Amino acid sequence: MCVNYLFLILSFLILVSKTTGSCHKGHDKYFKYLATKTGYRFIQNDHDNPLQFPDCELTKVWGLVRHGTRLPGDKIISKMKNDLTTLQQEIIDNYSQDKSNLCDISKFKSWTPHFELNREEKSLTMEGQRELLALGKRLRNRFPTLLNQKFDNDTFFFKYTKTQRTQESAFRFVEGLFGREASTEVWYPRSVKQDPILRFYKACEKWRHTVDHNPASFEEQEKFTSSKIYRQTVAAVSRRLGFERNLTAVEIKLMYTTCGFETAWSPGFDSPWCSIFTVKDLEVLEYAEDIDYYWIDGHGYPLTGKIACPAFQDMMNHIGSSSPRHTVFYFTHSGTLLKFLTHLSLYNDSSPLLHNNYAHMRERKWRVSQIDAFGTNLVFANYRCKNNRNHLLTLHQEIPVLLPGCQELLCPLETIQATYRTSLHECEFEQMCKHEGGGKSTGSLREENTDHDEL
Ligand SMILES: *[C@@H]1O[C@H](CO)[C@@H](O)[C@H](O)[C@H]1NC(C)=O
Ligand SMILES: *[C@@H]1O[C@H](CO)[C@@H](O)[C@H](O)[C@H]1NC(C)=O
Ligand SMILES: *[C@@H]1O[C@H](CO)[C@@H](O)[C@H](O)[C@H]1NC(C)=O
Ligand SMILES: *[C@@H]1O[C@H](CO)[C@@H](O)[C@H](O)[C@H]1NC(C)=O
Repeated sequence: MCVNYLFLILSFLILVSKTTGSCHKGHDKYFKYLATKTGYRFIQNDHDNPLQFPDCELTKVWGLVRHGTRLPGDKIISKMKNDLTTLQQEIIDNYSQDKSNLCDISKFKSWTPHFELNREEKSLTMEGQRELLALGKRLRNRFPTLLNQKFDNDTFFFKYTKTQRTQESAFRFVEGLFGREASTEVWYPRSVKQDPILRFYKACEKWRHTVDHNPASFEEQEKFTSSKIYRQTVAAVSRRLGFERNLTAVEIKLMYTTCGFETAWSPGFDSPWCSIFTVKDLEVLEYAEDIDYYWIDGHGYPLTGKIACPAFQDMMNHIGSSSPRHTVFYFTHSGTLLKFLTHLSLYNDSSPLLHNNYAHMRERKWRVSQIDAFGTNLVFANYRCKNNRNHLLTLHQEIPVLLPGCQELLCPLETIQATYRTSLHECEFEQMCKHEGGGKSTGSLREENTDHDEL
C-alpha cells in the first residue's frame, strides 16, 4: 500500500519533471555553434541590392569560395551507421528505464542515419547545390554591371579543384549567374590535384611537416579535451542521456558532428543529436574546433598565413590587369579560405587560442562557425573612382570587411599594396616551403585531424 503510494508519487514527479522545465529540451540557437559544419543559410546576407559608390565604376571581381554543404567522409559515415546507432539504442533504453533526463525521446526513436543515396563520400548535397546557386544569384544582383552579363570566355574565368564537391559548387554558382541553359557553355580549365593557387598548401612540404602533421599543432586541442571544463561537459551530457559511464570525447564529438551535418543538410529537420546539448556544452565543443583550426589553418604558426601569398598575388594581379577578363571565381576548400583570411591578418585575436584560456577567449574573433561555414566566400571587387584611382572592396560572407591599414571599406588600392607589400614582393613560395630535416612521423592519433585540407 505504502509502496504503491510512493510509486504513484514517484511516477507523478517524473511526469511533472518531463513535462515542465526540469527535463532537458535543447537550445534553440544550436545552429550558431556548429563550426565548419555550419550550413551557409545561417550566415548568408540576404540583402543583395546593387553595391554602388558615387563616381566609381566596378572593373574587376575576384572570389574564393568554399564548396557548399557536403556529405561526410567514409570514416564518419561508417561511425554514424555503427557507433552512433549503438548509442542511439542505449539512449532509448535508458529513457525507457527513466534514467534519462531528456524531455522527449520520439526524435531519437525515429532517427536513422540518412545520407542522400548513390552519392560518393564528401560529395555536395542538395542543400549545398542550393547554397551555391543562391550565392551566385545574390552576387549577380550586387555586382550587376559585371556579373549580370552573358557568359563570355574572354571575360569570365572559373576554376575548381579536382573534387566532385568543388566542381558541382562551381556548376551551381555559375547557374546562379547565367541561368541554367547558358551555364552549360562555361569553359573550365582542367582541374589538378596540387593547384598552386587553389590549394597552394598541398605543395608546401614545410607546412605539411611543421604544421599540418606536427603533433605540437594538436597539443592545445588535446589538452583542452582533457581539461576540467571539457570533462565536465562530457559528464553532463552523459548523465543527461542516462549513462552511468562517461561517454568518450570521441563519442561526444561524433554526436556534435552529426548534429552539424544533419542541420546543414536539411532545413526544417531537427536533429536529435543537437537537442542533447545545452548552450554551454555547444560553446565548449565549438571552442575545441576553433582551437584545432587556429593551429592548423590559422594564426597559430606564422608560416600558415604566409604560404597563401601566391593566391593573394593572383588576386592582386587580376585586379590590376588590363586584360578583358573581369571576373574570376575559384571553388576550393576550408584550408584555402582560412589560410587566405589568415594571410590578410583578419580574425587575429590578441591572444592565441589555448587549452586554458577558454573564458578569456569568449569574445574571440576566430570562430569557424562564422568565418568558415560551408559555402564560405571571400570576394574582392575593384572600383575605379574619380581621378582613375582604384579602390578595393572586400566581402567576407557577403559582408564588407575592413582590411588592416584601411580607413574605409572601399579602400585605396595603394593602401592595400602598402599593407601587404611583403606578400607582393617577398613571396618566395619554393623557399619558404622547402623542408629540411627529417620528417617527424605522426601518431595514429592524428588520423582525424590531418585531413583538414580535405574539408
Ligand atoms: C576559353 O579560354 C581559354 C583561355 O582562357 C582557352 O584556353 C579555351 O580554349 C577557351 N575555350 C573556349 C571554348 O573557347
Ligand atoms: C544506459 O545505457 C547504458 C548502455 O546500455 C548502460 O550501460 C547504462 O547502465 C544505462 N544507464 C543507466 C543509468 O542505467
Ligand atoms: C565522469 O567525469 C567527471 C568529470 O571529469 C568525473 O567527476 C566523474 O567521476 C566521471 N564519472 C565516471 C563514472 O567516471
Ligand atoms: C596576429 O597577432 C599576433 C599577436 O597580436 C601577431 O604577433 C601576429 O603577427 C599577427 N598575425 C598576423 C598574420 O597578422
